[in-house]
Amino acid sequence: MIPRGRRGIVIAIDGPAGVGKSTVGHLVAKSLGCPFVNSGEMYRALTWKAMQIGVDVNDAARVASLATGLRWEFHPTAEGTMRTFIDGENVAAHIRDERVSAASSAVAANPEVRRFLCRLQRGLGASSSIVMEGRDIGTHVFPDADYKIYLDAEVGERAKRRYRQLKASGLPAGLQRIREAMLKRDLSDLKRRINPLCQADDAIVIDSTHLTLHEVASKIIRLIRRPSSNGRSRRAGARPRPEVERPGRVQEGRRRAGARRARR
Ligand code: C5P
Repeated sequence: MIPRGRRGIVIAIDGPAGVGKSTVGHLVAKSLGCPFVNSGEMYRALTWKAMQIGVDVNDAARVASLATGLRWEFHPTAEGTMRTFIDGENVAAHIRDERVSAASSAVAANPEVRRFLCRLQRGLGASSSIVMEGRDIGTHVFPDADYKIYLDAEVGERAKRRYRQLKASGLPAGLQRIREAMLKRDLSDLKRRINPLCQADDAIVIDSTHLTLHEVASKIIRLIRRPSSNGRSRRAGARPRPEVERPGRVQEGRRRAGARRARR
């Protein structure tokens, strides 16, 4: 288990849809003994709630007011994954549907919603070590994260992974449809004006196209556990030297200009 200071260490994992951030984040957090947060779950939860009660996801003011009016709670599973509850309800069973996925792009482009959810996300990482995945965790939510990982993979491979996931959960799935929806969602994440998907300029980029997600998680864990020159494990403020580094595969994924470098 990694030591927890007043704030602990923050591991940010960003990347496009279906790249395996959640599985990897969960494995890393489990191995380090700290909580794991899938921030996309919050956008999905709000999207699902809006759809359920008939609020148009494109009505920015109504969706923002819905967000702030809900009671948000996060409870850890036995394995340390934080689950989102809104108004007392665990949303997990409702939010993986492809209709929710598609509609979540509009909710994620809503500036007030982003500001609100960002505050919740920062709150979760305020007092303990945390692994959090999303699109803007290393660039916006925790620009001073101790470790920033940008996970990438070819879209065909990402679509196959999502297809297998949906099938395994008994949800309807079609490979071509998933691929198209994924590209559409990526584009929306890349192009949105507020906190778009982009690599932090100090992120370590890992292409998982030809790796299993266990291999990706092991790489990250090795990076974090690698002893520093004084023989101790690297802690907050010690920027790891990249093990795997290459320019991002997401061509439109702008590297964030002037992004703050991790503390040295
Ligand atoms: O990661 P996941 O696909 O579950 O995320 C659902 C949606 O939430 C995505 O389409 C993305 O637009 C949005 N999202 C975001 N910022 C985050 C996490 C997710 O915009 N930090």
